[in-house]
Parts: sequence; structure tokens; C-alpha cells
Amino acid sequence: MLAPITHVLGARPNFVKAAPVIRALAALGHRQRVVHTGQHYDERLSEVFFVQLGLPAPDVNLGVGSAGGSHAQQTAAAMTGLEQDFIEHPPGLVVVYGDVNSSVAAALVAAKLQIPIAHVEAGLRSFDNTMPEEINRRLTDQMSDLMFATSPEAIGYLANEGRPVSAVHLVGNPMIDTLMANLDRFDTAAVRAGLDLPERYVVATLHRPSNVDDPAVAAGLVKALHEIAGVIDVVIPVHPRGRAVLEAAGLSAHPAVHACPPLGYLEFMGLVRGAAAVATDSGGVQEETTLLRVPCLTVRPNTERPITITSGSNRLITSAELASAVLKACDDGPYTGELPPLWDGHAGVRIGRIITDWLASDG
Ligand code: UD1
Ligand code: UDP
Repeated sequence: MLAPITHVLGARPNFVKAAPVIRALAALGHRQRVVHTGQHYDERLSEVFFVQLGLPAPDVNLGVGSAGGSHAQQTAAAMTGLEQDFIEHPPGLVVVYGDVNSSVAAALVAAKLQIPIAHVEAGLRSFDNTMPEEINRRLTDQMSDLMFATSPEAIGYLANEGRPVSAVHLVGNPMIDTLMANLDRFDTAAVRAGLDLPERYVVATLHRPSNVDDPAVAAGLVKALHEIAGVIDVVIPVHPRGRAVLEAAGLSAHPAVHACPPLGYLEFMGLVRGAAAVATDSGGVQEETTLLRVPCLTVRPNTERPITITSGSNRLITSAELASAVLKACDDGPYTGELPPLWDGHAGVRIGRIITDWLASDG
């Protein structure tokens, strides 16, 4: 029997990106395994995505968890579990997604076991090494045999880092595949009713360490959200990372701030689709708002997704600018520019074909 294609998934964004790739490879008849590191473990950060997106249940969950919040412990625990799994079930190819700790852990283990690696969402760069994700991205790309890019500038970045251009494929964006495949399932009115939201509202998501780990920074963001809520209701599904600090800063104290636990994918995207504007520090949300043409204000000094600024409605802002920028975006209304190339819902199928050809040609 042929060695399986093993997908390593660990955190919320991985699940959204993997669904169309796994589906495409299944349709092409490949044997696949799904290894969940367990980096994200709350039902609302993990299982709900498997259920809603029809992902196959993981063959194994390594139960890595948060490891006390230490990157070294989390990455090391993932590596230890993955090494054992890859030795017991040798993969023909390991597929990793994005830039989370589980992805770089899988790439390191696979590289040392001489197992080929495919990286989905290769070549994104913020050029900001204070972000753990930037380190994870660069290292993962260095070890990858196949690199699937969502955005054209990635090709140049990878070439500059000495990666062979022949191994880089511009395929579109699997996160956008998932979004397009599920558009009919988003029920904005039902989600609004469930959260007691009026017709016009702003969605906020904040989970970057630079925004939610430092109480003073978080307090500045809460103040801005309260200012927005004085004009238009704000709904914020709160990532567990920032929950305590944001609440300590008084997040829920404003009657027009609707703080809720993380939402399932369908509920969250239903909410985003109906929003007047989105304030975020998420990577994926910058892309999803681009496709949905919802104004997006990103509270970060940089982005690894500049195409969401040139092709979409995204803008980088500071915490001090947050309230005025969001309120202005609500007035300005939706954006109608040209979408990034190949963000057409078929990235998973392209990846499936390229992997199939690559395996057939023996790498
Ligand atoms: C991780 C990724 C980040 C990604 C985000 C998506 C890394 C370095 N970071 O950040 O790139 O944008 O996921 O959401 O890989 N926690 C829970 N329940 C869970 C998971 C986490 O309560 O199921 C809490 C724990 O207190 C934990 C903290 O969140 O310490 C951070 O979790 P972790 O997985 O380390 O990083 P994220 O901030 O979620
Ligand atoms: N998401 C969700 N529910 C939420 C928040 C986010 O389903 O409450 C989805 C959404 O599709 C988003 C993805 O999870 O793009 C990844 O989210 P996150 O912001 O955690 O990760 P990042 O993209 O910043 O790595």
C-alpha cells in the first residue's frame, strides 16, 4: 500500500485551510491521514470546525495543548508526538498549513526523517520577527519541497530566500475556497438574533500577543471599542488567549459591546458577512473580508497579507486610530475592487493536482 499523505493540523486557521485540500486529494483517490497535534483543544476552537467543514476526524490527537504558554514546550511536545507518529505510520508526504507552532514542528520532524513536505500558504512575510508566526513561516518554507502560495509576491520572497522557484506554485487561497463553498450556509439574521444584535454592527477579533498580552495595550483597545460602541454595536467573539486581560480592562462593561465565546465557522462568517466593518488582528479575517468586501481595519503595524490592502478593503491602523477608522469605514461602505488572482474557490483542486503529479514523478 502507498504511504499516506499526512496532514498535520493544530490550530483554528489550519482547519479552515485544510478542508478543501483534503477534499480534493480524497477525490483523487489518495490515502490520507489527519494528525491533530491538539494545540487548540476547546470544542469551539477545534471540533466545531471538523463538524461544520466535514473534515475527517483526526486519526490521532497528540494532546499537546497550551503547554503553559511556552513556545518551546508546545513545539517540543508536538515534535515528540509527531516523530513517533511518523515513524509508526510513515507518510509519503507531510502537508502543513500556515504559520502556527504545530506546522513548524511537523516540518522539522519530517525534514529530519527525510519525509517530503508541502507547505500550504508558503511565502507570506510580515518581515517582523517579533511575531512568532514569522519565524515559523520562514523555517517551514526552508524545509519544504512543495510550496503553495496564495499571493504573487510570495514567489519573489521565496526566491530571495534561496528557495527553488520550480517548487513554488501560485494556487489561490484555500481559506477562500472554504468561504466560497459555504456562502449559502451563512445565516446572518439567525446569528444576529442569537446574539441580540441590531441590523448595523461592527465585528471585532483580537488575539495577537502584541494586542492582548499587555494589560495597558489591551486597555487602550477596549477604550477604542467602547468609543465605537457609543455609535454602533460591537460584537467580539473572544479568543481564550485574551479573555482575562480584555475582561479585566472592562470589555463587557459597555452595554453595546457584545462579548461572546469564539463562534463556529458558519456563525462567525455569517456575522462578518453582515458587518458594517471589521476590526481585527487576525490573518485569516483580513482575507475573508477581502472576498466579502467588508471594510477591514487591522490593528497591527504590518501584515504578511499586503494583497488584502492592494486588492481589498484592508487598512493597517494603530490602537489610537481604531475608533475613528472603524466609524469612517462604516460610513464609507463596502469596497468593490478587483479580487486577488486565483481567489476563485479552486485552490484545493489545484493543490491536489500538483501533489498528485509530484508524487507520480517521484518527487
Ligand atoms: C495560535 C497561533 C496563531 C494563530 C492562532 C489562531 C502559534 C504561535 N500561534 O495562537 O498564529 O493566529 O493560534 O487562533 O502557533 N487556549 C485555550 N483553549 C484552546 C487553545 C488555547 O484556552 O483550545 C488558550 C490558552 O490559555 C493558551 C492560549 O490560549 O495558553 C494561547 O494558545 P496557543 O495555541 O499557544 O496560541 P494562540 O494564541 O491560540
Ligand atoms: N473564526 C471562527 N470563529 C471565530 C473567529 C475566527 O470561525 O470566532 C475563523 C475565521 O475563519 C478565521 C479563522 O477562524 O479566519 C482563523 O482565525 P484566527 O483569527 O484565530 O487565526 P489567524 O488567521 O489569525 O491565524
